[in-house]
Amino acid sequence: MKVIKEINEMQKAAADLIQAGKTIGFVPTMGYLHEGHERLLEEARKENDFVVLSIYVNPLQFGEHEDLDHYPRNIEHDLSVARKNDVDFIFLPENKTMYPSPLSIEMVVSKRANVLCGRSRPGHFEGVVTVLTKLFNICHPTRTYFGQKDAQQVAVVDALIQDFNFPIQLVSVPTVREEDGLAKSSRNINLSPQERLEAPAIQKGLQKGKSLAKTQNLEIKEIIKETRQFIERETRGKIDYIELLSYPELEPVEVIDRQVILAAAVYYENARLIDNTVFAPGDIS
Ligand code: PAJ
Repeated sequence: MKVIKEINEMQKAAADLIQAGKTIGFVPTMGYLHEGHERLLEEARKENDFVVLSIYVNPLQFGEHEDLDHYPRNIEHDLSVARKNDVDFIFLPENKTMYPSPLSIEMVVSKRANVLCGRSRPGHFEGVVTVLTKLFNICHPTRTYFGQKDAQQVAVVDALIQDFNFPIQLVSVPTVREEDGLAKSSRNINLSPQERLEAPAIQKGLQKGKSLAKTQNLEIKEIIKETRQFIERETRGKIDYIELLSYPELEPVEVIDRQVILAAAVYYENARLIDNTVFAPGDIS
């Protein structure tokens, strides 16, 4: 396993592999790796000749009042997780390497970003697509792996790849959960013990909403209302949003006649958690 900190070195290593006809599976992360990230690495390992993992806490995607300074980091742990998962290259740049001077060109995400997390985190997806454009150009992936836990991110990356013709296959990997159903997240360690006990209510509420959609002919706003009431009853976390939209387009729907996402974000004292469930009419009959 090789740790690379410089852009030109990573670019050359990746270009040499592509030149030699090898495939590269690329897993971008912000580190503090857990089993969710590991699942992405496992998939990348299965499907490609080489696996590249990037670890970079991208300041551009954090808002002014967000948790950039408190974002958890543990590079020794991350290196051992990477070694265990048979990663070939870790790209580990510093801020001054990624953003040596302010950018001259800014990206704007005009679709799929003005709902869900995009609404509560203005500028977030602009930061995500900017860093990913750089990382794609540095790591030359054949395939890139993203978690369905951040379903809106998958939808935005799908648009980025299509709109800008990146020759990359996007692979979306199902959410890895704790035994009680809470989606694994680097932010879970910021929950108090009581909040940790209550947080599985988010996924339970979403499943309740989905099953109402399945078994009863409820209007969308009723499904959302029932989901909201369930989550409010089971946890003191403050709901940021609960939305039901088409997926991956993330547009409003009147009836569930195509694939949809039911998604929620909940604020706790020191963490904002998100989760979702994606389902199609076929699942509902
Ligand atoms: P990060 O939050 O570190 O997540 C890296 C990847 O791991 C994302 O694709 C995310 O969806 C996936 N992931 C996180 N928890 C997961 C879980 N419980 N199950 C399955 N996959 C999970 O997402 C980012 O970093 C950044 O925005 C990044 C894409 C690296 C750009 O900076």
